[in-house]
Amino acid sequence: MNKRTHTCGELTSTSINEKVSLSGWVNAVRFHGQVVFVDIRDRYGKTQIVYNQDSFNGDFELVKKLSMEDVLSVTGVVQKRDKNAINPNIATGEVEVIVSDHEILNESAPLPFMITDRNSAEEDLRLKYRFLELRTNELQNNIKVRHRTYQAVRTFLSNNDFLEVETPVLMKSTPEGARDYLVPSRIHNGKFYALPQSPQMYKQLLMVSGFDRYFQIVKCFRDEDLRADRQPEFTQIDIEMSFVDENDVMAKCEELTSTIFKEVKNIDLVKPFPKMTYADAMSKYGTDCPDLRYDLFLNDFKPFSDKSDFKAFSSAESVMGIIVPDGAKYSRKEIELLTEHVKRYKAKGLAWMKADEGKLNGGISKFFDDDLQIQIRKKFNINDGDILFIIGDKNKITQLSLGSLRIAIARKEGFVKSTDFKPVWITDFPMFEYNDEDKRYHSLQHPFTQPKSNDLKKLKESPEAIPSKQYDLIINGYEVAGGSVRIHNSEQQKIIFDILGIDKKEAKERFGFFIDALKYGTPPHGGIAFGFDRLVMLLAGTSNIRDVIAFPKTTSAMSLMDGAPSSVFQDQLKDLGIQIKK
Ligand code: AMO
Repeated sequence: MNKRTHTCGELTSTSINEKVSLSGWVNAVRFHGQVVFVDIRDRYGKTQIVYNQDSFNGDFELVKKLSMEDVLSVTGVVQKRDKNAINPNIATGEVEVIVSDHEILNESAPLPFMITDRNSAEEDLRLKYRFLELRTNELQNNIKVRHRTYQAVRTFLSNNDFLEVETPVLMKSTPEGARDYLVPSRIHNGKFYALPQSPQMYKQLLMVSGFDRYFQIVKCFRDEDLRADRQPEFTQIDIEMSFVDENDVMAKCEELTSTIFKEVKNIDLVKPFPKMTYADAMSKYGTDCPDLRYDLFLNDFKPFSDKSDFKAFSSAESVMGIIVPDGAKYSRKEIELLTEHVKRYKAKGLAWMKADEGKLNGGISKFFDDDLQIQIRKKFNINDGDILFIIGDKNKITQLSLGSLRIAIARKEGFVKSTDFKPVWITDFPMFEYNDEDKRYHSLQHPFTQPKSNDLKKLKESPEAIPSKQYDLIINGYEVAGGSVRIHNSEQQKIIFDILGIDKKEAKERFGFFIDALKYGTPPHGGIAFGFDRLVMLLAGTSNIRDVIAFPKTTSAMSLMDGAPSSVFQDQLKDLGIQIKK
């Protein structure tokens, strides 16, 4: 093999007449009579190499058999391309290499799909051959974006006095909302480690230990229902800081986020990031992850429906509407599809009225007299050609279904510009949410989040009424990070466990060491974790989290390439004291 002198993305007209050696993969082959043009590719780019019978010293018949993804090492002289053959779209587009010698380092078997056309195969097939899919331009770029993001994060945090500390991957099972992935112990049969859903307790303990500022780029594992922006194992930028309040953490994270966007995408985010309360986000956008790139808001319609003859809404807890500019063009079929969409969020239906010639027409408009129609048009600034969609139901259903309709319409109408990035902090989350199924309170974030009030009596009496010191960072509708100021007092921590229905014995067993640690001079502290993959997704301009992870799992938590999860040998199970029920 000739030692390569240049990468395949390096040669320009400054190297004309130089003898060079390149190594890489065959990306394209074109035959022009007795001349064969090959694009040779590596991580850095592509170079056109030319086999000419006169100047090539090897077996020309073998050149004719070259096929896609064979691995080559070539030596030759750089020459300027003909004027009409110059390719301004690639860095090496002005030159080509006239090959004198080559070595075929390895031949490729026939490919299951085209490396040059990622869409030539279904995702399952590409995931089975992920090592090949990773050769595609798109994934090579995404992995580079990911790399640059790691570096930007590490440099920024290290320059800001954060210490990188690794925490255990085999830990004690602790509840954090999702199911744990468990690892059976061979030495202690019948006992299990859990893989961390996040290093939450460890990072707080590092504050107890006096490290002041911690970070880690860390794998987390959650056995939960997966979707386009969730993986069973994913990466967090995990951060914890001592002697801080919410604003300190948010300010540092704004700096971090802005630095990442600048370094990786050369984008200047507008600072300071706006803040919005959870209640405002829910009532205005119908979600706690609002996408601020388009102005389509939920409006309170109850005062108008109550005055109308439309009785279906009179007993609804809330009635809300959104106005879609130019939406009057929607056909019955389109409205039916949107109705199906909101039904997935438990709405019973989707009422509508179209604005035309100064009036409201169609749908439920006949239940609203002229005077009421004028008031509605004025209040919501409705123009001819607009459509008004209305849902009345329990507050949560109205908000969530209209919130999701808002997103569906923005996609349908192309309201979003993918080059726009709009961050927003969501604050004042409730501490707890009551779950009707198991009839108990659950933490909205996790049980270590501090309430906004020190009124312990009120906290015990009406847990739902107390907001927490949680903050989430949302960018373009994605929850990119979430964190909080923590409880640093063991008594308060016990009360929270109590409200969550974790009894004293259970709390002692599961978190005893942690509650104990809080007694030994714990500094006030707070932190956050960024979903690293989600952040890279935004930076890489994709909405599929698998596109930014080298070896991802499917939505059914499988690796199609290596076949994980798989069965194991009986002996392994025996060692672990495990028997599989048939
Ligand atoms: P939280 O559970 O909000 O907080 O997680 C932090 C961020 O991690 C990302 N994330 C995920 N990304 C991909 N796949 C998943 N399954 C997944 N689940 C979460 C999200 C989310 O905002 N310990 C706390 C943080 C803290 O309080 O400091 C925690 O893990 O972007």
